[in-house]
Amino acid sequence: MAAGKAFCAGFVGSCMGISVLFGLIFAPIAFNMAFHRLDSTDMAVTWDPFTRQLRDVRGAGLYVVAFQKFVKYPSTLPTISTDVSCVTKDGLMMDMLATFQYQIIKSDLIQITKEYRDFDKYHKLMNTAAERAIHYACSQFNIGQFQSQRMDVQYATKDKMQHLIHDMLHADIMDVQLKNVQPPDDWKTAVASKQQAQQDILLASNERDQSIAKVNGDLKLAQQSAEIMLEEARTNATVILQDAISQAAGIGAMYQQQAEIAANITKTNGLSINGYIAYLQNRLMEQQNSLDVAMDTPQADVVSQCLRLSSAEAILRYIC
Ligand SMILES: *[C@@H]1O[C@H](CO)[C@@H](O)[C@H](O)[C@H]1NC(C)=O
Ligand SMILES: *[C@@H]1O[C@H](CO)[C@@H](O)[C@H](O)[C@H]1NC(C)=O
Repeated sequence: MAAGKAFCAGFVGSCMGISVLFGLIFAPIAFNMAFHRLDSTDMAVTWDPFTRQLRDVRGAGLYVVAFQKFVKYPSTLPTISTDVSCVTKDGLMMDMLATFQYQIIKSDLIQITKEYRDFDKYHKLMNTAAERAIHYACSQFNIGQFQSQRMDVQYATKDKMQHLIHDMLHADIMDVQLKNVQPPDDWKTAVASKQQAQQDILLASNERDQSIAKVNGDLKLAQQSAEIMLEEARTNATVILQDAISQAAGIGAMYQQQAEIAANITKTNGLSINGYIAYLQNRLMEQQNSLDVAMDTPQADVVSQCLRLSSAEAILRYIC
């Protein structure tokens, strides 16, 4: 009896021991299957392994659900950083580090899980798609624009990514940064020498402007003094012309007077032209020095007398 009791006690003890052992082994498994915890940075799609159905989308929280699997995704913005070598619009190879953040569209999570199974595969595809978008955006810009218009290039890259990824991967691109943009060394050298050349051109252009300003100043001075000289010459010419006019007028008046005298003589003496010439000859013979028909200084020689005579003749012809 005592032995039986002892056996029974032993049996109960071992029963309990076994139960505790079972409990220790299976309780966590059962617990694990029943309780699912999603952090504030998580979201998940529930999957029923028996029906092989994706059921619903859950946000952060503690869930008691038996026999269901949770396929987790980040509810925050996953970041991808990738080194890219791409060819620019002007055909140069360029290296840079592209970093971007994306947001998975929660309402599309069941579709995403159907198409890509889990986050790891999805994230890898996201990476590949993003690289394609970066290559495309890269080919839209010249290498210089990566330096001078980095923001524009970033926006274009983001747009292209969004376009490519939104429908295919059910996500929105939140931000794109292009860093460590490394143009090829040849290009850097070319840019340096181009900048030097530009500076040289600027310098030369400044010098040219200065020269032009100086020349313009000189030209103005020259023009001014030329104008002064021209004005002086005009005045001189006017003076000379006036002189000539008054001289000519004087000569005319003198001939007029001589002619009148001759006319008076012929008239009062009733002389013909030949008669008047004979008269003059006589007068010449009488007083060689007093006849002043041709208004020059009186001369005694015959040549000058002949000249005077022909002058007188001219005067007479003028009158008649
Ligand atoms: C004007 O006449 C003056 C005096 O005759 C002379 O000295 C000057 O050179 C002349 N000017 C010009 C521009 O011919
Ligand atoms: C010519 O004669 C007229 C009168 O017959 C006289 O009035 C005039 O002054 C004379 N002219 C000269 C230049 O001697």
